[in-house]
Amino acid sequence: MAHPELTLTEHRPFQTQRQDTWWLQPVAVLTGLGLFIIYATFRVFEGNHFIHGPYLSPFYSPLLFGLTDVAHSIEHSWFGEMPSWIPVFITPAVLILWAPLGFRFTCYYYRGAYYKAFWADPPSCTVSEPRKGYRGEHSFPLIIQNIHRYFLYVAIVIVGILAYDFWKALWFDDGNGGKTFGIGIGSIILGGNVILLGGYTFGCHSLRHLVGGIVDLLSKAPVRRNIYNCVSCLNRKHMLWAWMSLTWVGLSDLYVRIVATTGWQDYITF
Ligand code: FES
Repeated sequence: MAHPELTLTEHRPFQTQRQDTWWLQPVAVLTGLGLFIIYATFRVFEGNHFIHGPYLSPFYSPLLFGLTDVAHSIEHSWFGEMPSWIPVFITPAVLILWAPLGFRFTCYYYRGAYYKAFWADPPSCTVSEPRKGYRGEHSFPLIIQNIHRYFLYVAIVIVGILAYDFWKALWFDDGNGGKTFGIGIGSIILGGNVILLGGYTFGCHSLRHLVGGIVDLLSKAPVRRNIYNCVSCLNRKHMLWAWMSLTWVGLSDLYVRIVATTGWQDYITF
């Protein structure tokens, strides 16, 4: 098959011989991630409206400390009331959100996407970039990205905690001081959040290396090979899982905020 000859002699930023809409993907990433960052920053520092009935916003889970002015948050929390010596701008979300955000920020897929979208390094394949030198991820500061595998361990624990939150989101007050089983719209949304975050987390490149590495002959380790195949299967659509889970976790928080602030009756199916 004949390939067109590409001569990359241009040096001005964003120059290219490409005729396609190469800029579309970076612009979409910039818009999508930008909107998420703005919304998440607002919610993290709002420090309110993160609980409604059995629903806990994933932005605030695990809820280490509750707040006196947020109804039921102290009884939902792991360690009771937020200590008074912690500054007020440190909300319960600030205490824990570094973990999932760090996991995403250092994700191999997101790195490729936001390097292009946020600092044009490069803007796209065969598109000239603004920088002069290249230090890669072998030196400071980007060498820090190698911490991703450690964020993975924390992220796996968080998926387990969110699965427990989903279980709790199936039990509603029965009006007599007890609990009764039910499925509300919030239960379904929080359940979907666990599935999508699980699909993203368990398709991680680092996890693939973790379960498929070390042994020389994977075919001689059937359990490990099967796990490796499962992780690889999820990994093939890692970008899709990344965007679906990012969108869904934001919508999950938004839903909890809506029912907590409007008193809108969450429909319980049974
Ligand atoms: S590579 Fe994307 S989550 Fe690990």
